[in-house]
Amino acid sequence: MLVLGIESSCDETAAAVVKDGKMLSNVIASQIKVHSKYGGVVPEIASRKHIEAINPVIEQALSDAGFGLKEIEGIAVTRGPGLIGSLLIGLATAKALAYALNIPLVGVNHLEGHITAVFLAEKVPEFPFAALVVSGGHTNIYLVKNYHDFQLIGQTRDDAAGEAFDKAAKLLNLGYPGGVVIDKIAKGGNPQAVAFPRAMKGSADFSFSGLKTSLLTMLKKRGRDFSAEELPDITASYQEAIVDVLVEKTMRATQDNDIRQVVVCGGVAANGRLREKFADAAFKNKIDLFIPQVILCTDNAAMIAAIGEIMLTNGCRDSLDLNAISRWPLVAHS
Ligand code: KG4
Ligand code: ZN
Repeated sequence: MLVLGIESSCDETAAAVVKDGKMLSNVIASQIKVHSKYGGVVPEIASRKHIEAINPVIEQALSDAGFGLKEIEGIAVTRGPGLIGSLLIGLATAKALAYALNIPLVGVNHLEGHITAVFLAEKVPEFPFAALVVSGGHTNIYLVKNYHDFQLIGQTRDDAAGEAFDKAAKLLNLGYPGGVVIDKIAKGGNPQAVAFPRAMKGSADFSFSGLKTSLLTMLKKRGRDFSAEELPDITASYQEAIVDVLVEKTMRATQDNDIRQVVVCGGVAANGRLREKFADAAFKNKIDLFIPQVILCTDNAAMIAAIGEIMLTNGCRDSLDLNAISRWPLVAHS
């Protein structure tokens, strides 16, 4: 089925075309430059930028895929979770297209999209597998028994891992989004230089707010006085503290549930050190590891089209009064 996917849940306006589980195009207009001067996403600005970008992004996705609008057989759009104003732009566009073209529409959970990104690769996992969804808003481990069949095993009690990266970057005046900057700077640093805390050992849940506080306390003690030479060590140690708990808890979840396959997805899964440490841990524990290519870890519409195609093929349909949902936990559905 030839499906157009539309994603606008946060600060990326994205459209993609997927057919029979294969990605034919993947276009992303990022708003990073606009928001970086504020140190984070400004929701009102994000909505306005989505309006400007959405039509050209869809046109580009169709042209890259080599198809015209009239050939599209179904539309998949992110329904939530996300910024409500941003979601509504994608949703209104998707509904207008579905109505005008008289083709089916399906609203998709963004987290389900992140997990499905892994199926756009050559080598794909088999069910059941454990999935760590780690992004700016979520840090959840699921037991995935089938498409649409998720059981939450662990989640963050406070900040998401991506938020921990973004907040640290803000404290260190490194700009937004923090994960990408810290990933780069930390490459030259010693991950053991600063002993940052690893919270909630022994629990399936995560907590990252103490880590951020411990960085803040360290900076306050020094009167925010650190040299540029120290930055790689500080960021590498901070990154290591995040990655360590993500790896450890995901590996424990696989053991506890007798699972041999792990999927890691979401924006933070783009992190170089995370990919390295997960690969080592998977090798040691004889587990098959699946992490989407970097461009499919951060927000994109190919993942939305991928899960949308599966849903549409299974007969899922949404009506034109479909609304956005800003908080929408991932639960098993038909
Ligand atoms: O999935 P995503 O693009 O959007 C959400 O659904 O939240 O994830 C964005 C998050 C941000 O917090 C960003 O700092 C983080 O992913 N991120 C990274 C990297 N690239 C993006 N974190 C660590 N290392 C990266 N390379
Ligand atoms: Zn996301």
